[in-house]
Amino acid sequence: MDVLEAIFTRRSIRKFTGEPLSQEELETVLKAGFSAPSAHNMQPWHFVVIKDADKLEHIAEKHPYGKMAPQAGCAVIVCGDSEKQTAEGFLVADCSAAMQNMLLAAHGIGLGAVWCGIYPQEDLMQLMIETAKLPKGIIPVGMMVIGRKAQERSQQDRYDSAKVHFGQW
Ligand SMILES: Cc1cc2nc3c(=O)[nH]c(=O)nc-3n(C[C@H](O)[C@H](O)[C@H](O)COP(=O)(O)O)c2cc1C
Repeated sequence: MDVLEAIFTRRSIRKFTGEPLSQEELETVLKAGFSAPSAHNMQPWHFVVIKDADKLEHIAEKHPYGKMAPQAGCAVIVCGDSEKQTAEGFLVADCSAAMQNMLLAAHGIGLGAVWCGIYPQEDLMQLMIETAKLPKGIIPVGMMVIGRKAQERSQQDRYDSAKVHFGQW
């Protein structure tokens, strides 16, 4: 899929068939995450892939907007190493860039995915720290739920000329 087509047609997918992903598909998506830009090229990200059904059920029970995780069968916690990227704002931006790359890659290879918010919600960050056994200094930024689509969602044109400012506001 062409990059602009991927950007314009990507939507959050929250319904999944439950059929597992191949290792190759998962690696393609992870490689896309690793290809993201990062401040000072620090690449502070780590990715925790969770496929364990009990862990996905636990996440779904505790995350108010993560109920789709067990049906998808896979979640990737995108985390940042605060020793590598010491400015937290940059760490979050870097991990967000990785997340967006991964969402686009998933869509580009025909999978469905949704970004579930973690940072800066303390309770959700703690949930990820405990579930994924994150070491000290590793900050969970977001969770990508990924799987095989059981829904199609149409493209939306969100261009808004009122939000585009040329030269100055
Ligand atoms: C930081 C962030 C947190 C989000 N958290 C959730 C979430 O917890 N659960 C969910 O189903 N969608 C979540 N989303 C997805 C948004 O709801 C979705 O991107 C938005 O409604 C636009 O729809 P689209 O992705 O189909 O274009 C999140 C998106 C972002 C960027």
